[in-house]
This record gives sequence, structure tokens and C-alpha cells, in this order.
Amino acid sequence: MPIIYDKKKRVFHLYNKDISYLIYISLDSRLIHLHFGAHLKDYDLDTMIYHTTNYYTHFDGEKEHISSLYDFNYETSLMELASFNKGDYRSCSIKIKNHNGDETTDFTYVSHKIYKGKQKLEGLPCLKASEDDVTTLEIKLIDKAINVVVILQYNILTNYPVITRSMKVINQAEDEIILKKAYSATLDLKTSDYNLYYLSGRYGKERNVCKEKIMQGCKVLSSIEGKSSHNTSPFIALASLDACEDYGEVYSCNFIYSGNFEIKVEVDKCEFTRVLVGINPETFEYVLEKNQSFQTPEVILLYTNKGIGEMSRIYHKVINNHLISSNFLNMKRPVLLNSWEGCYFDFDTDKILKIIDEAHQLGIEMFVLDDGWFAKRNDDNSSLGDWYVNNEKVDLNKVEKRLRQYNMKFGLWFEPEMISYNSSLYKNHKDYAIKCENRDYTLMRHQMVLDMSRQDVCDNIYKQMSDIIDKYHIDYIKWDHNRSITEAYSKHLDSKHMGEFYHRFMLGTYSILERLNNDYPSLFIESCCGGGGRYDAGMLYYSPQIWTSDETDAIERLSIQEGTSFCFPCSSMGSHVSANQRTSYKTKAYVALQGTFGYELDPLKLDDETKALIKKQIKTYHEFYDLTHYGDLYYLIRPSNNAHQASWMFVSQDKKRALFTYVVTLKNKSMLTYIKLKGLKENKYYYCKEKDKTYYGKFLMEVGLDLTFDYIYSYDSIMLSFIEK
Ligand code: DGJ
Repeated sequence: MPIIYDKKKRVFHLYNKDISYLIYISLDSRLIHLHFGAHLKDYDLDTMIYHTTNYYTHFDGEKEHISSLYDFNYETSLMELASFNKGDYRSCSIKIKNHNGDETTDFTYVSHKIYKGKQKLEGLPCLKASEDDVTTLEIKLIDKAINVVVILQYNILTNYPVITRSMKVINQAEDEIILKKAYSATLDLKTSDYNLYYLSGRYGKERNVCKEKIMQGCKVLSSIEGKSSHNTSPFIALASLDACEDYGEVYSCNFIYSGNFEIKVEVDKCEFTRVLVGINPETFEYVLEKNQSFQTPEVILLYTNKGIGEMSRIYHKVINNHLISSNFLNMKRPVLLNSWEGCYFDFDTDKILKIIDEAHQLGIEMFVLDDGWFAKRNDDNSSLGDWYVNNEKVDLNKVEKRLRQYNMKFGLWFEPEMISYNSSLYKNHKDYAIKCENRDYTLMRHQMVLDMSRQDVCDNIYKQMSDIIDKYHIDYIKWDHNRSITEAYSKHLDSKHMGEFYHRFMLGTYSILERLNNDYPSLFIESCCGGGGRYDAGMLYYSPQIWTSDETDAIERLSIQEGTSFCFPCSSMGSHVSANQRTSYKTKAYVALQGTFGYELDPLKLDDETKALIKKQIKTYHEFYDLTHYGDLYYLIRPSNNAHQASWMFVSQDKKRALFTYVVTLKNKSMLTYIKLKGLKENKYYYCKEKDKTYYGKFLMEVGLDLTFDYIYSYDSIMLSFIEK
């Protein structure tokens, strides 16, 4: 078993060939974090414990707490679950308000269970793996003073340097308790010698990579918008100061949750680092009556000593193999045409049929009718929540018939969590919309948010959606979400339970997605959130693809896609060629080919030359599909490090094929353009079709590919393929 408990040493050892995670039970039963990092066959327990406890002494009641063994100290021990109000002055992992107002928490070990496999978290997205692929450790702790139990859940994957963590809180006391903080994971590290990598953005400029040295104090990345947000992502990496793309230690957390989250990185007076990941306590309070429990969402913890690039590749594999539904992993993604940028709200049956005819000619395999097909929706002023076809505008029977005639797939846009002020749903069910009593409500894009914490609201929306899916045999749904929550409040929750609203909202959204996944196993869902405002591992569990950004300009997309691919697979990144003017169709396609390829334009407006080019691009997509969807991604030049150029390549798992892309954003001052490739076999030869030339693998990686005489200037690009000879 990859998890052992050494009774004599009082140590749990979770391990696989790459990593070890060590937890020690102190003599008075506190759970101490000893190590997360490279695999250790053996370890010196005394050193590990002593080093963090020898400076400070605390007292537990009458008894001096630190015995001659020095094995625990509230103030400086590295913890698996940090207590509150007992002398650990760093941020705590769990805070509970007891019936008498006491908020202290102090948990001690009771028992543990180790088993093969992993349990599904009820109602929440989480990693899935067979009994051979994952082993679980559950540690039961109790705070005896309040009779509350915590089960810390650890899962170690067999084939990846990844551990997932979550926790369950059970109230065994007679009186109710209020859970005020319940982070899913606490990761204590012995130093602060790390650079913090995180993703920062806004609408249209999502997930740009940021890097800064951590210093004493707290850095908090969070959302209170009801979604993970455009502004940052529930992801961080802490990389050793010498770490770079290809080597060095990296610790990373990727939270499998789409609602309000908080990731707190705190450096204390001893230069220890504490990382907390979980539901944002700012907008959370959960009441537990006797025998009720609360399950936190799951966090992926990753460790590698092979640098940032390897971190990304590990995430890509873990997310593809253990998070995304296996129904879609091997399903070839059809090349799609989305109507949004080509038509916006301005279409009718005739126009759509003509677009489909043209799309078919170009080789497009799926047509997605975006916003505007339902109720009275001719602009963004109305109709969200009224999911019936606007038959006067568009005849979906005819649309479906035409698509089937060409053997094309049919995709449709929904925005299930929203309600327009101007809608029949609002007229009939004003209480479905989120708003506070006696307070003005806020409209954003003229719309309100539905109270997804209510079962009746979820049922109503599911029924409307499934009627449409059934009637038109929909193959694909674009699930949009175009505003944040304000005036959070539910008529169905009393004041005592109002703090549960945001989490219950998320559970409601997940429940509809889960029902769709179960009832329509081949229905492909691409989630979207005003572009990429909810791109997280939680949504990827239900929707294998996410619209990366409403910014479709290829040059702008370079940094957005770089940041997204930092911790999510390229095969999940919705990426389209659009009609915007700045770049050539060549560059647009090369950039879109980094993600799931498609078009977002009016094909009736294209000239013959562009149409011929698009036909070629679609052939290229098919030719290199295996590489771009299942290959390893290597960044050669990251846009976050270089304002002039970007370059990446995909290498097949057997290293026999590679696809290289280079894009220039600003002319380089250097006279020569050599780019060193990565991931190839050193001692093999590779043939490059486009250059009709053979290169030695090590030469390409050590000296580089010479593009000097390809004369690539601003906004221009090149894509080259390599095959082992
Ligand atoms: C926002 C999305 O990001 C766009 O792609 C498009 O679907 C619009 N919403 C439609 O209203």
C-alpha cells in the first residue's frame, strides 16, 4: 500500500515513486506535518520534529506543554490542521463558534483508516480513480471540549506526484455549532524561500501569469463574486527561488471548486510559510445541528522538482485522466463554428441555414447557435430563464434537419443560472431571483441571478433545458454565466442559515450539471462565464471544455492561453479563429490550434482565398489532433517572460512527433533567431516536413532551430512539424 502507518514512530507515510508526505502524531495527539516533497525511503524523525519546536514554549493548563521530547508547540509546529485561540498565531484551518460563543478549536488524533480507492464527495466535483490508481487515508480527530469531529481526507495518486485533500466536520454535540472557517487544505512549509506564481486578470484579459517573492505577512487570492472569477484563479504555485521552467522545486494547489474561494499564503515571524486553501470564509458560515456534517471541496496538492513546465504537464495529465469525464477524454472534438461574433443577436432561419451550408463546405463539423435563439431575446435586455424557441425568429427543426443532412453536430447556448428582469420567469416567480428584502437590487447586463440554492429553481431550469435537448437532439451545450452575484440572499434560508447561501448556490449549479451528465452521457458541455470568468477544476469535472476568454485576438490570446495552460490542459481551452483584423488568418489559426480549435465568424463574409485557407487549417487540425490533445506541452518562450515573442511545442508521449509554434509580437532586436526545442529524444533524427530538412534531436535542443531567414516580423508566425526518422 502506498500509505503506511509506522506505529512505533507514530508516522503516516504517503508515498509513490516521486513523492513522500509525512504526518506525525505528537505524544499528546496533535497532527504534525513533517514533509511533503521528494520521495524518501527513510527519514530522521527527531530532526524533523525538533527543528520547528525548539524556540518557543507554550503551556497547556498546568502542565508545561513541551516535554523533553519537544515534539509539539502550538506556535511553531507545522500543522495538518491548525487550531484557533490556542497559541498558533498564524491563520487557522478551522474556526467554530460554539453555543456559548467560544471560538477555540483544538483537535487531537482519535483513529485512522487506510484503504484502496477513493470515495466520491457527495454533490461536489473531485478526482476519480480506480482502486489501483489511488489510496486513501482518513484521519479522525476530535475537539473534546466541544465534541466536534473532523475527518481529514488524503488521497495519493499512484502514478502522479499528487495528493488531494479535503475534510469533513461532524457535530456530535447536543447544541448547534457554527462553522466559520473550514479550509480544505493546510500546507505548512519550513521556509519562505519561494516565489509565488498566481494568475491574475479581468474580463477579456484572464489568467496572466504573475510571480513575486513571498515575504512576511499574508498574500490572499480570493473571490466573493459567487464564481471563481476573471480576476484570479483558485490556483497557486510556490517555486523555490532557483526554480525555472525546467528544474527546481514547485509546490502547487489547484482547488476543485467554482465558487467563492480563498488561497492564503502566510509567512510568519519564523519565516515559515502556511498555505490555506478553501471556501472563502468572508462569505461563509455553516450551521451544524447535532449529528450534521459538512464536507469541504477537494484540493489538488502537487509537488515536483522538475520546474514549472513539468508542473503544468502533470496537471494536464491528472485533470485529463482523473477529473474530466472519461466519456469525453477520447472523444474527438469536432471543429465548431460558433455564431456569436459572426451574428450576435442578428439572425433568422434563412441566415443560419446559409451559414451552415457554407460551414459544411469549409469542413466544419459542429454548428453552435449562441445567444438569441429563445423567447424574445433580440438583445441582452430580456428573456433569460425563458428557455423556449423564438419560432418567429429561428426554426430549430429546420436548423437541426440541415445539420443532420450534413452529418454535423448541433450545439446550443444557455445561461441557466440567470433570469432577466424582462422575462416570463421573473413575472411568474419574482422570488426566484436573488435579491435582498427592503433593498435595491443590482442589474448587470440587465439581468439578475437565479437562486440556485433552491431545489425548485434547479428543477425548473433543468426541465426547460432537457425539453430543448430532447426535442432537438442537442449534442453540445455552451453553459454561460454573465454576471456576478450581488445582494446575496435567499428567501428559502432563514437568517441563521443565510451564511450558507453561496456554497448552496454552487451545489445547486453542480446538481444541474451532474443531472445533465448522468441523463445525457454523450452531451458535451463547454462552460463559459463572460469569457473565462469561471475557468477552474470544479467546472472541468462537469464540462471538459471551457471558453477561455471573449478576447479572441490571437496576440492577446498568447498570454491568456499561457496562463490557462499553466494549470489546465490545452485540450480544455476553447480557442477560436475570429474575424478580427490585427493578425493574419495564419497566426489566428496557429494560436487557436493550441486549444480546442473552432471558428467564430460569419463564413458568408469570407473571400475565396480565406475560405481555401480555412479548409487547409481544418486539415491541419485533424493531422495534428493527437499531438495538440494528448501531447506534452513545452513552453520554449513564455509571453510572461518575453514581450516580443512566444513559442511552445507539443511532443507526443512516445517523443516521435512534435509540433512547434512561434509567434512574434514585436520585432526582435537580435539579428539571429535560434529557438531551443524541448522534450525530444537526444540521439534521434527528426524530419521537418515544412523545411524538408532533417535535424539531430540534441542539436535542436542544445543549439536550436534557426528561424533567422524565415523573416518573421510582428504578428507573424510559423508552425513546424517534426517526425522521428
Ligand atoms: C458571453 C460569452 O463569453 C460570449 O461568448 C457569448 O456567448 C455571449 N456571452 C452571449 O451573450
